Amino acid sequence: MALLRRELTLGAVSDEDRVRWDKRHAGAENLEPGPPALFVSTQELFPTEGQALEIACGRGETAVWLALRGMEVRAVDISPVAIDLAWGLAADNGVDRRCHFDVWDLDDGLPPGPPADLLLCHMFREVALYPALVDRLAPGGILAVAGLSTVGGEPGSFRAARGELREAFRRLDVMVEGEGNGLAHFLGRKPN
Ligand SMILES: C[S@@+](CC[C@H](N)C(=O)[O-])C[C@H]1O[C@@H](n2cnc3c(N)ncnc32)[C@H](O)[C@@H]1O
Repeated sequence: MALLRRELTLGAVSDEDRVRWDKRHAGAENLEPGPPALFVSTQELFPTEGQALEIACGRGETAVWLALRGMEVRAVDISPVAIDLAWGLAADNGVDRRCHFDVWDLDDGLPPGPPADLLLCHMFREVALYPALVDRLAPGGILAVAGLSTVGGEPGSFRAARGELREAFRRLDVMVEGEGNGLAHFLGRKPN
């Protein structure tokens, strides 16, 4: 009974998330492929070939940018509206054969798929997924995680605590990291 109640509760939370995010994504205009905002200055460190997995990809601007640079991209988000927009953006840019977008609830863990040469999570925090992100990387693969932080920002459940990313991804070789002004980013490589 307790398990059933927990499943119902989780389902309800994800449904609410989906509806809320569908509303936010609807009506988005003038989408352009581009690097994730918190990695603009380090974008050249991102790979240009191999398999990319982006989680909570939103409307696909970064996924399509990665495909235009040469990667095969799988990207997921809970919002069907966002996923439709992402497919459209990929088609408009001629890379829909190199992209695959799916509706996926990350409360259920990562989607199945091959080891990733790049795994990207931008502006979405789910601490329970951190170990799976590392496990999913191919040897030599790069993890890019960035989002809100309590460092120089408000407290809040969407925000990474001080040192959270460094600690969670300590098995990786740090390429770039930083936290401040309410933001945190981490780019690391899995040892071969
Ligand atoms: C702040 S947006 C970030 C979007 C994109 N990564 C970016 O940086 O522009 C957070 C994204 O997480 C997605 N999301 C929220 N909860 C989710 C869940 N449980 N599973 C998958 N995606 C989820 C939302 O639909 C939204 O696109």
